[in-house]
Amino acid sequence: AKRIGILTSGGDCAGLNAALRAVVHRAIRNYGWQVFGIRDGSLGLMDRPLNYVEFDLKSVGDEMLRLGGTILGTINKGDPFAYPMPDGSKKDRSQDFVDGYKELGIEALVVIGGDGSMRILNQLCRQGGIPMVGIPKTIDNDVAHTDYAIGFATALNVAGEAMDRLAPTAASHHRVMILEVMGRDVGHIAINAGIAGGADVVLIPEIPYTLDGIARKIAEVKAEGRNHALMVVAEGCKTETGLSVTQVQSGGQARYGGIGQYLAARLAETVEAETRVTVLGHVQRGGMPAMRDRIIASAFGVHAVDLIAQGKLGRMVAWQHGQVVDVPISDVAGITRPIDPYGTLAQTARGLGIYIGEM
Ligand code: F6P
Repeated sequence: AKRIGILTSGGDCAGLNAALRAVVHRAIRNYGWQVFGIRDGSLGLMDRPLNYVEFDLKSVGDEMLRLGGTILGTINKGDPFAYPMPDGSKKDRSQDFVDGYKELGIEALVVIGGDGSMRILNQLCRQGGIPMVGIPKTIDNDVAHTDYAIGFATALNVAGEAMDRLAPTAASHHRVMILEVMGRDVGHIAINAGIAGGADVVLIPEIPYTLDGIARKIAEVKAEGRNHALMVVAEGCKTETGLSVTQVQSGGQARYGGIGQYLAARLAETVEAETRVTVLGHVQRGGMPAMRDRIIASAFGVHAVDLIAQGKLGRMVAWQHGQVVDVPISDVAGITRPIDPYGTLAQTARGLGIYIGEM
C-alpha cells in the first residue's frame, strides 16, 4: 500500500481538521493507503524520534468537522531553512526534514498551509525530491489563484457577528465603534465584514485614506439623522501618512496599541462623537468551523488525494468559480492576493456609500 504524510503548517484556523478528515477518508476508503499525520508542522519530521501518528478512519470521525484548530498542532516560526535556536541564532535544518521524510518512508506529502508555508515546504520538497500537494488555508484569504482558503469563512462570520453586536451598543451610546480585524497585509476580512455588517467606513491596506475623509463620512452619517457609526479597519492598514503605527510611535509621543487605537485617538481631534475600539484578535481563528469552511476543506481534501493518485504532484488545490481545480505550487508560493481596489467588493462598498478611502 502507498504511504502518504499530511501536516498543517503556519497559523491555525477553523476547518483544518475537516481537511485532515477528508484526506484520510479518501486515501483509506478509495485507495487503501496508509496516512501518517505529522505533528507540529515541519517539526514532526525534524524531531528525533519522528513525531507523527498513523490515522485510521475512527481517529478522524465526524467530530472533526466540528472541531476548530488542528489536532496535529502547528508551529508558526519554525522555518527549517532558518530554524530559531535557543541561543537566538538560526540554523538550516532542512536536511533533518528530508531525512525524516525518508525515515518515515512516505511517498508523498500533503501540506495544508498559506502562501508562506507553500513557499517553504515547496522548497524543502524540491530539495529532497519529495512529491508534494498543497491545500490552501488562512483566515486572511490571500492565497493566490483560489477564491477561498480554509478558515476565511469562519473568521468572516466572527467579524460579522462582532459588527452585529457592536451596532446596538453603538446606537445606545451614540458612539463611533471601530472594529480592528485580522488579515495581515490584506483587507479580505475587513471589506467583507464591513459590507455584511453595515459599516460606514472600511479601511484596508490596499486603498489609501485620509482622516478628513473619515471625518466627512461620520459627519454625513450624522446629517442623515443617525447618531452612531461603525468602522472596520484591517490590522495591516498604515496610518494616513503611509507610515506604520510603529513608525509613528518611534516619534516618541502617544502610544497606540494598533491601527484601531491610533485612529480613535486621531479622530478624537476632529470628530465630536465618543469612540471605542474593539481589537478582535485570535477569536477569528478559533471556534467551530463555519459550514462553508467544512465544505471547502472536504472538497480540497478529497481532490488533493486524487491528485496524488493521478501522479499530479507539485500542485495546490484551489477553488475557482465554484469548482475545485489545481494550480502549480510555484504560482502561489510566497505570493499574496490583495483586494482589487476596483473589483466587485470595492465597488459594492462604494455603491453603498461606505467610505473606503481614496483611489
Ligand atoms: O495569517 C493569519 C493571522 O491570523 C493574521 O491575520 C495575523 O496577522 C497573524 O496570523 C497573527 O499571528 P500570530 O498567531 O503569530 O499572532
